[in-house]
Amino acid sequence: MKNTFLLFGLPGSGKGTQAQRLAEKFGLQHISCGDLFRLHIKSNSEFGQKATTYISRGELTPDKETTMMFLEHLAQQALSNTFVIEGFPRTLPQAAAIESFITAKDGYIKQAIFLDVEVEELVKRISGRRICPICGHIYNLYYFPPQQLEICEIDGALLERRTDDKEQLVRHRLHTYLVTESPVWEYFRTKSLLTKIDAMRPIEEVSSDICQILSDSLASEVGYD
Ligand code: AP5
Repeated sequence: MKNTFLLFGLPGSGKGTQAQRLAEKFGLQHISCGDLFRLHIKSNSEFGQKATTYISRGELTPDKETTMMFLEHLAQQALSNTFVIEGFPRTLPQAAAIESFITAKDGYIKQAIFLDVEVEELVKRISGRRICPICGHIYNLYYFPPQQLEICEIDGALLERRTDDKEQLVRHRLHTYLVTESPVWEYFRTKSLLTKIDAMRPIEEVSSDICQILSDSLASEVGYD
């Protein structure tokens, strides 16, 4: 956990898409708090059942349990030197918890990368999002539709829409997160760790900026993986 990068942004800003690309391109280990929730929900665990109530209302799940679930998962992973965390922290207590966890492992938060996108674009992206339930590939009906409507090009599975992607809920989610997450962005900004990226641009361009930040940040490191 020597070099930790945090990916921030409002729902639909492209965190999952970009983290997936980093993992594919550089083999970087990537952990998404939202994906962990979805795994819990799918397996119908006690935590998953509880989380569903909040997620289906477009709200954040309670801090204490979320932090415990996330850090327990992190602790069980064979963590590589360089890895990317997406969707955590989202509150100041979560920020304090992840910092302590990483410090205890002799690691550092190298950069907190913020993907900046306008609200109307976020609503469009989320309403067009479709995900493959098998391989997890993210499509978009407006921007990157699969060749065959609603079918994954990689494994032929029927694409799914997330239950929290309904337009009315999306606007509520955006508002909630703007209010609760802004202090976290500010927290990392005052530590000179926050880098804002214009994520209204095509995926490739955003991706190239993120790669540049990672390589600049790691340039002084020897033997990172
Ligand atoms: P989570 O899964 O983290 O959802 P989120 O933050 O709402 O973010 P999204 O996954 O919706 O969007 P994204 O930024 O990953 O965008 P994507 O790459 O898919 O969390 C789900 C829920 O769990 C939360 O609502 C909350 O309840 C709970 N939760 C999670 N973490 C928590 C925490 N720490 N504490 C408490 N609760 C927590 O892209 C979106 C679409 O746009 C895709 O279709 C994609 O193809 C397209 N796209 C991406 N980039 C571009 C581009 N540049 N141009 C055009 N289209 C693009």
